[in-house]
Amino acid sequence: MLRAPLGHPLEATRFPFEAESLHLLALDAGAAVGCVLFHPEGPATGRLFQMAVEPARQGQQLGRQLVQALEVMVAQRGFRTVTLHARETAVGFYARLGYEVVGEPFVEVGIAHRHMRRNLL
Ligand SMILES: CC(C)(COP(=O)(O)OP(=O)(O)OC[C@H]1O[C@@H](n2cnc3c(N)ncnc32)[C@H](O)[C@@H]1OP(=O)(O)O)[C@@H](O)C(=O)NCCC(=O)NCCS
Repeated sequence: MLRAPLGHPLEATRFPFEAESLHLLALDAGAAVGCVLFHPEGPATGRLFQMAVEPARQGQQLGRQLVQALEVMVAQRGFRTVTLHARETAVGFYARLGYEVVGEPFVEVGIAHRHMRRNLL
């Protein structure tokens, strides 16, 4: 979903901090149809990453449910700020969920991104 379309093989795109991250999956009859991960990067802040919804399920609020469920879970664990690297094409999605762009555009995995963040209540 995230890397194959960019020409990056799956096995070359693992994050070194995956094992110590929170993994949240949306399941349908046992099959993953959406995911989002969170990596703690300090006592009260961490990074949301690997956000994806299966193409056939996009536009049905599944991404919103995943992010909002993740926010509840990390807030319960004491985190107060969520940061992320948004692809330019996904900036509008995160903005709808209350995230703000921070700083200048940058290139990651060959495509334009923006830093975004949200303070949890
Ligand atoms: C981006 C992505 C996760 C959104 O998930 P989704 O389930 O389709 O989004 P939702 O249906 O929950 O949308 C929630 C809101 O964001 C809006 N939205 C969704 N994708 C958007 C986009 N790319 N740009 C602008 N707004 C968007 C929806 O219209 C909806 O608005 P509403 O509150 O007015 O109803 C999904 O399209 C995806 O997996 N894309 C490919 C992978 C990707 O780019 N991941 C992000 C990497 S940083």
